[in-house]
Amino acid sequence: MPWTAPLALIALLSLPATAAAAPPRALSAQEKLGKRLFFDEDLSANRNQSCASCHAPAFGTTGDASAVNATGAVYEGSVPGRFGNRKPPSAAYAGASPRLHLDEEKQWVGGMFWDGRATGDTLGDPLAEQAQGPFLNPLEHALPDAAELVKRVCAASYGPAFRAAWGKQACSGDAQADYARIGRSIAAYERSAELSPFSSKYDAVLAGKAELTPREASGLALFVGAGKCAECHPATPGPKGEPPLFTDFTYDNLGMPRNPLNPFAFQAEANPAGTAWVDEGLGGALRERGLPAAVHEPELGKFKVPTLRNVDLRPRSKKAPAGEPSKAYGHNGYFKSLREVVHFYNTRDSLPACPPGSKGEKVTCWPAPEMSRNVNKEEMGNLGLTPAQEEDIVAFLRTLSDGWRN
Ligand code: HEC
Ligand code: HEC
Repeated sequence: MPWTAPLALIALLSLPATAAAAPPRALSAQEKLGKRLFFDEDLSANRNQSCASCHAPAFGTTGDASAVNATGAVYEGSVPGRFGNRKPPSAAYAGASPRLHLDEEKQWVGGMFWDGRATGDTLGDPLAEQAQGPFLNPLEHALPDAAELVKRVCAASYGPAFRAAWGKQACSGDAQADYARIGRSIAAYERSAELSPFSSKYDAVLAGKAELTPREASGLALFVGAGKCAECHPATPGPKGEPPLFTDFTYDNLGMPRNPLNPFAFQAEANPAGTAWVDEGLGGALRERGLPAAVHEPELGKFKVPTLRNVDLRPRSKKAPAGEPSKAYGHNGYFKSLREVVHFYNTRDSLPACPPGSKGEKVTCWPAPEMSRNVNKEEMGNLGLTPAQEEDIVAFLRTLSDGWRN
């Protein structure tokens, strides 16, 4: 992308005040139904796991187990001992991702999951299509088939609400159609004002109702300027005043190191490659779809740009800030703080390489990338930021947490 930061900054600072963040409205019947499905643990093999188990609203719809976040960062499924292979991304603010496609610049855009494999081609809506997946994934909810899921939904206390929302054809024997209705209901909730409320301090600033502190304002200037962050995580409202989502839904390989504690490395059945396993991201998903080497190889190791909304959000006690719960970042959860992420973008290429586990790792040296092909060398790696500027960017990222009050 061309280097347009100063313009972007000028545009941001001269924005007209957009509509004030609307007070949260009540959920529609459809959204309420989606909420029941999202939190229902009965919809898993051992009736012990819901979507919220890995996408807890208090943690910005990511995992809420501090000890897991601090280590492997990958969550156990309904069946004990079975783990997936990636860190749960936010399930909110994802609803605007288009169907996976190649744009005019021949870049892949859209889809759902870190690797885009929920393309949206089946239901026309990647978010609804994604919401069907976890129920039947043996490493997640682990139900045997769509018929079992539909049986449980139709028999649930909210079964009547499901029929009321979808009409009398619902729960009448067409399991595939009901399966799609379940996906669409959950997507409606994920897009609702409850999971995607746009109620952060930064939203209030865009609405002209709050001001950034000098530190946060410096962080924003760096975010859209010398840090180049906004080239992939857009921070300015769209042409019709749409609030920014902090993702352009494209894919990149940041050259993130592997997370040696990823439990997937030790899942002999699901992962015969063991610790030699490398996550191939979008390229792997495109190969699975049968796309030739010329198409999938340039995408190996690339992952979807995640939203940065609620990236810092977690329950905090003012009394014990030191005991705040951990979060993990990146597709494999290698990073454990925003400070580490920003330091990586700034110094990946200017600091020496070191073996994982070395003294000084993440501070004075970085391990090799998980996937050395297709690493982005243009927009990151040696930004020349000072430690204080890194801190300013972190301060800005903290303004993206929902539920901000004056
Ligand atoms: C065991 C943990 C777990 C459970 C349970 C789970 N998820 Fe996820 N979710 C993940 C992980 C891990 C990913 C990323 C997987 C990948 O990219 O391959 C993910 C990805 C997603 C995404 C994609 C976001 C994006 O921007 O691409 C959405 C949306 C989502 N989950 C919603 C749900 C819903 C809805 C449910 C319940 C039906 C659910 N999840 C259940 C762990 C979980
Ligand atoms: C070239 C595109 C690009 C640029 C520039 C970029 N990012 Fe990212 N960002 C990504 C991608 C892609 C990921 C996910 C990578 C992965 O998981 O392997 C990511 C992940 C993140 C995450 C982790 C979020 C999570 O929920 O796990 C944070 C935080 C982040 N970026 C902040 C920044 C900041 C701050 C800057 C500027 C200093 C920046 N990014 C610049 C593409 C970009």
